[in-house]
Amino acid sequence: MHHLVYWYIPLEIGSAMMSAVEHNPHWMKVTFEDGEAWDYPTVWLRDNIPTGRHRNEGQRLFDINLLPADLAISEAVLNNGGVQVAFSDGTTDLFPATFLRAHPLAGSHEGEVTPPPSLWGSERQELLEFADYQRLVSDDQARAEWLRHLRDSGYALVENTPAEEGTVTRVVGLFGFVRETNYGTLFDVVVRPDPANLANTSARIGMHTDNPYRDPVPGLQLLHCIVNESDGGESQLCDGFAVAERLRQEDENAFRLLSTHPVRFRYLDDGNSDLQCYRPLIETNSRGHVTGVRYNSRSASAFDMEASLLPDYYRAYRKLSELLNAPESRIEFRLGPGQLMIFDNQRVLHGRSEYKIGHRHLQGCYADKDALHSTIRVLESA
Ligand code: OGA
Ligand code: ZN
Repeated sequence: MHHLVYWYIPLEIGSAMMSAVEHNPHWMKVTFEDGEAWDYPTVWLRDNIPTGRHRNEGQRLFDINLLPADLAISEAVLNNGGVQVAFSDGTTDLFPATFLRAHPLAGSHEGEVTPPPSLWGSERQELLEFADYQRLVSDDQARAEWLRHLRDSGYALVENTPAEEGTVTRVVGLFGFVRETNYGTLFDVVVRPDPANLANTSARIGMHTDNPYRDPVPGLQLLHCIVNESDGGESQLCDGFAVAERLRQEDENAFRLLSTHPVRFRYLDDGNSDLQCYRPLIETNSRGHVTGVRYNSRSASAFDMEASLLPDYYRAYRKLSELLNAPESRIEFRLGPGQLMIFDNQRVLHGRSEYKIGHRHLQGCYADKDALHSTIRVLESA
């Protein structure tokens, strides 16, 4: 059974006071005052000598091939709150205790740079909150909190933005940069007479992630409401990670089929674009954690896979679709003028209910997640 345990470099690193150091040629063991004792292999230490980086903590100045293959530790002694280490190639350096403490080498930090996602379903409906736009602009702490909500829950809501065209790209400035595509820097969601996209009709749109035919897929999507005088047209969001975990629990074989067999997504636009991407609906990393959900019936091509697999694959696909569109999986709200939602397009699916009469105009755009995570770290370290 997989656990949803993701780790990231913690801000609190515990006691960085050391009480003892031992070594042999192959490793060094450090004991901290709180009793933790960790091993550091010789090659790891030599690769990470503090003076091996431009202005300490900066960029590494050498490649691993330039180090001798048969390195040994010749000496390791406590010194000045750190450990002074001498290596067989003649290098010596002082490793600060805080650096060693931040790297337990226990396998717990592998790969993860954000905290565990907090999974949700329709119970979130009670906790829906729109942040005030001016507050996010003027108060760094409020902005950090809002951005953390987006990172951890995969969506965030804001209100009192100018209900004007172009606002959506200004909101991206709260943390990052617009990802421009063939749709432009932003796109309009409004009823059109002869629409190429279902978004530009008044029809219901089932749960989906946007643009699964792009590589990389847009990490974040924003939808900003300028006018909504329609009857219906509610916005819906669903946590794709929570649904994927539920599928894994209820039907492991379905989860395996959807996470191992890629399918093609395509967007074809008369001589202008032929975008294609070939990926599984559920993406996992080498540790089995779900890292992405790609689901869009409108842009899924005919599935090309072994005929004998397809009946089971379709059963799994239907099950996923049922769970994604189930009322207990989603939150629902109506976007009014000046309100905006932003969500993780590799995790949170969005949809809208059918609408009948009245003018409705949204504008959307895309952005990347790396800048979101970076901005949170910068705000937290200020
Ligand atoms: C979209 C979309 C939802 C809506 O444009 O990607 O899903 O509320 N629109 O109109
Ligand atoms: Zn969409």
